[in-house]
Amino acid sequence: MALLTWEDKYKVGISKIDDQHKKIVELINKLYDSMAEGRGKDVLKSILNDLVEYTKYHFQTEEKYFEDYKYQNKNEHKKEHEDLKNKVTELKGKVDIGKAVLSTEIMQFLKQWLVNHIVESDKKYSTFLISQGVR
Ligand code: FEO
Repeated sequence: MALLTWEDKYKVGISKIDDQHKKIVELINKLYDSMAEGRGKDVLKSILNDLVEYTKYHFQTEEKYFEDYKYQNKNEHKKEHEDLKNKVTELKGKVDIGKAVLSTEIMQFLKQWLVNHIVESDKKYSTFLISQGVR
């Protein structure tokens, strides 16, 4: 069963961003399902790598919007991105060398971080961008 089900309340109203968020949800679910099914380490490492890389790409997409439209709260938002990137990069490093294993707690943390970040922080900048004509 999926860890996180996409719901309309997560939409920020900008199609490129909504599509990227859906893809992150898909990757989190894929990682969770693989963990729950007891898949091998290499499979988990590969999916975790995809999740980390895609999340970085997604953050870059948002941050490009911040620059292009001179979003006022960009530094605060980018700090949230940096904090998560640091955490998942550290986690990935530990998993890669066998010093950490994925757990339900870690997956719950990722899920909760994403949901909170989308509904609280992403919706703030998307409201601003939409007011600037971005769709
Ligand atoms: Fe969609 Fe700010 O991450």
